[in-house]
Amino acid sequence: MSIERQTPLIKTELPGPVAKTYLERDEHYISPSYTRSYPLVVKHGDGMMVEDVDGNIFLDFAAGIAVTSTGHRHPKVVEAIKKGLDEGIIHMSGTDFYYPSQADLAERLAKAAGGKREKRVFFSNSGTESIECALKLARWHTKRTNFISMRGAFHGRTFGAMSVGNSKARHRSWFGPLVPGVHHVPFPNVYRDLAPGQKPEELAEQCLRYIHDVTFKREVEPDQVAAIIVEPVQGEGGYLVPPPNFLPGLHEICADNGILLIVDEVQAGMGRTGKLFAHHHFNVEPDIIATAKGIASGMPLGATIAAADIMQWPSGTHASTFGGNPLSCRAALVTLDMLQSELIANSARMGEYLLGKLKERASSHPKIGDVRGLGLMIAAECVADKTSKKPAGKLRDRIIDEAFKRGLALIGCGESCVRFCPALSVRKEHIDTAVDIFGQALDASKE
Ligand SMILES: Cc1ncc(COP(=O)(O)O)c(C=O)c1O
Repeated sequence: MSIERQTPLIKTELPGPVAKTYLERDEHYISPSYTRSYPLVVKHGDGMMVEDVDGNIFLDFAAGIAVTSTGHRHPKVVEAIKKGLDEGIIHMSGTDFYYPSQADLAERLAKAAGGKREKRVFFSNSGTESIECALKLARWHTKRTNFISMRGAFHGRTFGAMSVGNSKARHRSWFGPLVPGVHHVPFPNVYRDLAPGQKPEELAEQCLRYIHDVTFKREVEPDQVAAIIVEPVQGEGGYLVPPPNFLPGLHEICADNGILLIVDEVQAGMGRTGKLFAHHHFNVEPDIIATAKGIASGMPLGATIAAADIMQWPSGTHASTFGGNPLSCRAALVTLDMLQSELIANSARMGEYLLGKLKERASSHPKIGDVRGLGLMIAAECVADKTSKKPAGKLRDRIIDEAFKRGLALIGCGESCVRFCPALSVRKEHIDTAVDIFGQALDASKE
């Protein structure tokens, strides 16, 4: 079933009558810990569009939280999964057995990751598991226990990933004790932390100096640190792009001290920023890359790609029953084909276009403090006013709600940002519509 129109169509009140029946049951039976902000009950998706159970059509700029990289149900992805069902196998467990799609995908990822060192891959099902693997591998390889992680970082919700995370206190409340030995350090926020007259690179230097002057002097000696973990573009923290010297600076600290550099590419990877991996913008070769989300166009898959000289752990040290599911691997292989042949370039081009359009429409608005991003990882930050820069979270929620009412699916990030993370197959016409609706939503929202 395809959705012909490329613009939204809202036919019922929202939520519609059929949606309401699901919302009632959902409220009764589903964990209230989920983070829904508006009642979109989806029936099916096609490319950039999704249709809800009442026949309303939405333009999707959330992409299943930056996951459906090739759009919803891309015919090539559907074909690959169907072929896997018809001719292949649904599950075998790549941890105890072998199958072609897992080896094929590992080779493709290891080669595509680039850098001078050979790579090996561990497959899992999600972002948080790819992080968990990275953390365990770093401890196993270095025989050190501590980690350095960034303030504002989000790495997932299992104990290890949650312990290195630092984006919201609620993620941690009542879940402790967490994994010990995590030291949080500042991540350069160019919008908020730049002192008057300071250059972004100087702010990055200041953050790097903190590791030497505070972390290493007062908290933990460098030879006790297994890894520094960083999102090359901070996602949940508010789509923060660090100055160009920040990742190279972290890499240097790691190299000088026998510390591994883990980059969390779960959200920023797989072409979202206009390069296959976001760290490719910064010219560093990390020791471990964690990826998931966009890797298989929506099929669950995580991959931890490590330098082969590091991923030397023996049989039994780490494994996963479901990790590297054969259908997910097939979906990932065609996703990678499309990313490399066309969609990474499209992400760079359309990202620039979207950033420009959003700046044009929103930068002069008194409540939009900043519009920023890299590739198709773009945020508009809502503030009470441009001088105080006080985060306006409620206003952000209102804007997202108003956009939903007009048929545009958006999500938030950071304390008060609207995030734009459409499929990498997005076209100019979708962007024009989305920016237009966002502008209407902005005008309709008052704090
Ligand atoms: C940067 C980053 N790392 C890790 C995760 C966790 O991924 P998952 O929700 O697939 O476990 C996320 C999810 O949003 C993320 O954005």
